[in-house]
Amino acid sequence: MAGQVATFPEKYGRVPHLVVILVGEDPASQSYVKGKGKACEVVGIKNTTILRPATITEEELLGLIAELNADDSVDGILVQLPLPKHISEDKVIAAISKEKDVDGFHPLNVAALWQKQPCTVACTPKGIIKLLKEAGVEISGKRAVVIGRSNIVGLPVAKLLLDENATVTICHSRTKDLAAVCREAEILVVAIGRAKFVTEDMVAPGAVVIDVGVNRDAETGKLVGDVDYAAVEPKASVITPVPGGVGPMTICCLMENTIECFLKRNA
Ligand code: GUN
Repeated sequence: MAGQVATFPEKYGRVPHLVVILVGEDPASQSYVKGKGKACEVVGIKNTTILRPATITEEELLGLIAELNADDSVDGILVQLPLPKHISEDKVIAAISKEKDVDGFHPLNVAALWQKQPCTVACTPKGIIKLLKEAGVEISGKRAVVIGRSNIVGLPVAKLLLDENATVTICHSRTKDLAAVCREAEILVVAIGRAKFVTEDMVAPGAVVIDVGVNRDAETGKLVGDVDYAAVEPKASVITPVPGGVGPMTICCLMENTIECFLKRNA
């Protein structure tokens, strides 16, 4: 990717520019934003991080987004979530120009994904498919179970798995006999946000387990996923660790999406 970006100044007169907006001082969000900045540095993408206090009004934030939408030197706009309660995330997401929506969260990008039209695909779901392919996992014909139905991960990853010809079950924390459903999975994707939610009895021998969770362990304070890694790892054929599994792939897809947005606007 860095090699590709290095050719851009000569071809297009500049490199891609990603603007990340961070509202407030949530430590997890600060850490995510830092990771995105570092990745930009490695790939050679220009990164501006705009910090705003948690007291910013919705109107002010929407005004900032409108300015960035109109700024031709900006290729990608990412507003780090979650936002303070007094700001509507839906309004903010819809305010970002579809062409600069590197997160793939804009309603028009979401609609295009479900209609099999060209679109920006959300980074985490896209990263999961990339990870499965790089691990040599055949998706076509497999039974996949996705735990979680969020707009950011659960729903789009289920759609992408379906597009790869897996047979997909979407379930959630209230699914009846969840353990039995999960045991049917050849590919199990977990995005629920609770430490040790997936226990050893929920995983079939040889299953591929993708852990999207990012939680703090209550005792050690360390970053952990949604899967009881120590118990499940011996049973799984492939399992993604937290940290280090899905997260880096998500950031890689963010870089890819930023380059795609840049090329669509410039090439
Ligand atoms: N917060 C947690 N994950 C994400 C993400 O992928 N994009 C944004 N904008 N905020 C997030």
